[in-house]
Amino acid sequence: MRRYYRGTDLSRVHSIAELATLACQRLPHFVWEYLAGGAEDELTLQRNRQAYVEVGLQQRALVPCHVPGTARTLFGKSAALPLLIGPTGYNGMLHRDADIHLARAATARGVPFCLSTVANAALETIVRQVPGVDLWFQLYAMRDASIQASLLARAREAGVSTLLLTCDAMVLGNREWDRRNFVRPRQLSLRNKLQVLRHPRWLRQVMWPHGLPSMGNLDPYLPEDERTALGSMQFIGEQMDTLLDWDALACVRDQWAGQLLLKGVLHPADAERAIALGLDGVVISNHGGRQLDGAASGLDALRLIAPLARGRLTLLLDGGIRRGSDIVKALALGADAVLLGRASLYGVAVAGEAGTARALDLLAEELRRTLNLMGCPDIDDLSAEWLTFNMRPAVVRAY
Ligand SMILES: Cc1cc2nc3c(=O)[nH]c(=O)nc-3n(C[C@H](O)[C@H](O)[C@H](O)COP(=O)(O)O)c2cc1C
Repeated sequence: MRRYYRGTDLSRVHSIAELATLACQRLPHFVWEYLAGGAEDELTLQRNRQAYVEVGLQQRALVPCHVPGTARTLFGKSAALPLLIGPTGYNGMLHRDADIHLARAATARGVPFCLSTVANAALETIVRQVPGVDLWFQLYAMRDASIQASLLARAREAGVSTLLLTCDAMVLGNREWDRRNFVRPRQLSLRNKLQVLRHPRWLRQVMWPHGLPSMGNLDPYLPEDERTALGSMQFIGEQMDTLLDWDALACVRDQWAGQLLLKGVLHPADAERAIALGLDGVVISNHGGRQLDGAASGLDALRLIAPLARGRLTLLLDGGIRRGSDIVKALALGADAVLLGRASLYGVAVAGEAGTARALDLLAEELRRTLNLMGCPDIDDLSAEWLTFNMRPAVVRAY
């Protein structure tokens, strides 16, 4: 009988799917739902996986297997792999100091780490605790211009070279399954409270002794007694700029001298506007299926955007990356690199830095093996000619 490994020896975990199953066991249900769930009927969440499964790989015969080239230069800096750990908020619910664990694992594996505005660790903490980190920052536009200017100044001071402005979460997606765990905002149902008690390891690791952490980047803007999980959630709810538009993006372009990318682009016309505004790149993303249910998958959108963006815009892609072969498909269709969302979060939830490193190593090994089996010597050689488009697989499970 087939069964995933359930123990603590990470060397016996052989795929991101297996890490996801372990994370599901280790987290209380409401946290798992926050991490893994999507909006409404989860059509986009599902499509994010399905799109990869529908693309096949083309193999060439009798190409000697050397260690394939997987390095990629992004904005003048070489990364060991064509990926980075993408921005995710409130990671502290998965593991205490999760942001630091993610940043350390990324740095040890030679890839960038992107910190979210609504992370638990502050920019300054990451820089202090993770020497050598290639730190990127994701900005949620703020209603209060002085707070936004201060965040940008702090990012600059922290040595951030690349800023991602997220544009697909101006209002929060309708994550019904998430909401079903609460009787009212922030009050868990009795069933969920009891379920939490069945996770003493999580209680010890995340909740003890101070409870859920605040959002570190926002602490300086809050009175001392409101620097709590609740205080920062209320604050971000009030501060998130729902009126963000192209003029506001042009202002950010003027304020930010480093690389600027718009995250949440799916339409080719928006990629054109990003080029016209002088952006350095876009992140083709539907926010991991957590926002607009029914939005196209990143991979589908990439096929439309890549032809017009070639040589004019760096294209990053996320959503549903769970295998090294997914990375091959994304690059072959024109992405410069991919962002990991849940794949690395499953790792951090299971075992902090070591779990994240395991997730990165699994994807790196799969990437190298896939290239070898295809007879492709280097990721720089990838193009659509290495793919087939007539796969009609069964509907896959999203994870
Ligand atoms: C738990 C969680 C929190 C997230 N928080 C943010 C965030 O704060 N800012 C942001 O731009 N994107 C956020 N995202 C979206 C990710 O950056 C990324 O687009 C998405 O996770 C990619 O899909 P994948 O998880 O299927 O790989 C979050 C995603 C998850 C799963």
